[in-house]
Amino acid sequence: MQIRTLELQNFRSYEDASVTLSDGLTAIVGENGQGKTNLLEAISWIAGMGSFRGVPDDALIRLGADAAILRATVVSPDGREQLIEAELPRVGRNRIQVNRQLLSRARDLLGVVQVTVFSPDDLDLVKDGPALRRRWIDEALVSRYPKHDAVRSDLERILKQRNALLRSARGRLDGDTAFTLDVWDEKLAATGQAVRDARETLLAEMAPRLAGAYDAVARQATAVETLYEPSWDGDLASALVASRDYDVRRGVSTVGPHRDEILLRLGGAPARTHASQGEQRSLALALRLAADAIVREAGVAEPVLLLDDVFSELDPGRAEALLGALPGGQRLLTTAAWLPPAAVPDSVLRVEAGRITEASGG
Ligand SMILES: Nc1ncnc2c1ncn2[C@@H]1O[C@H](COP(=O)(O)OP(=O)(O)O)[C@@H](O)[C@H]1O
Ligand SMILES: [Mg+2]
Repeated sequence: MQIRTLELQNFRSYEDASVTLSDGLTAIVGENGQGKTNLLEAISWIAGMGSFRGVPDDALIRLGADAAILRATVVSPDGREQLIEAELPRVGRNRIQVNRQLLSRARDLLGVVQVTVFSPDDLDLVKDGPALRRRWIDEALVSRYPKHDAVRSDLERILKQRNALLRSARGRLDGDTAFTLDVWDEKLAATGQAVRDARETLLAEMAPRLAGAYDAVARQATAVETLYEPSWDGDLASALVASRDYDVRRGVSTVGPHRDEILLRLGGAPARTHASQGEQRSLALALRLAADAIVREAGVAEPVLLLDDVFSELDPGRAEALLGALPGGQRLLTTAAWLPPAAVPDSVLRVEAGRITEASGG
């Protein structure tokens, strides 16, 4: 799937902009603060209905405007064209249309366009706590198995309800609360185990791609391992029973896939504490590449690659190696500075104060 045209109204710094995109490599150039990342953010919104910068939709609406509008024509490999239109109002629900048909469930847009985003913040995947790694594997699961989105939102809903109940118990469990908690525990046990199993299976499937991607980007063979560390032993139902008193006292669910860790190891040592900054950057890129490869090789989608300002953080050797490791197809990269000499864009877009102009074509 490729994005052929993109039109933005009152999206971030864009009042009204439209652009035709190359199906190969597009370089988006411009000084800092001009709107380069905003452009990639718009594309990623269409893919995932959210900002990859992790901000609420409200932040995407241009200051002073009532609604942002995104419009994209996308082309599937068989040449079929679809028109996607999204309206993000400041008040009320988002409206999404595909070929002028309103989607009754916005989530149905998931999977129409897929993207793989690389950003300098990806370093936090390696350096920060487990939350970002769980998000990485869960996003990879949804990309690989779009139906997994339902399991993921089930888990979120169950945890929200269970935590609300635990909070309202204020440290003491009466009969009614215990009965309701039983119901939520049963749901959490089933869904939680399913999420853990799915994550572990995907990690195993990803292992060879991760190793290959790391070697390619770092240009050296180093053992890369991912270790799934669940927050419980045995079956989750029993673990929930065992942790019940503790959960009630704490007022929060302390056991489940939302507390699991994915340990990353490089050359036998934890990457978070032992790897150099360069190695950590290579590993972060490899995590993105591996998730992308899984989706591509399974034939689920050909994600559009969005590389936000990644080359400025890499030494020239790693930048070159990353370019070589990228799959073909539609790729957009932003830069405020230099482009690696090996990057020969098919199209160059210049962004200045929220305006996009075609600088040159290929
Ligand atoms: N909701 C918004 N309304 C208006 N301007 C915005 C909004 N959100 C961000 N901006 C502006 O967008 C600019 C940043 O754009 P960005 O794409 O991050 O720049 P860069 O080219 O450095 O990637 C800033 O000037 C910021 O003030
Ligand atoms: Mg930027």
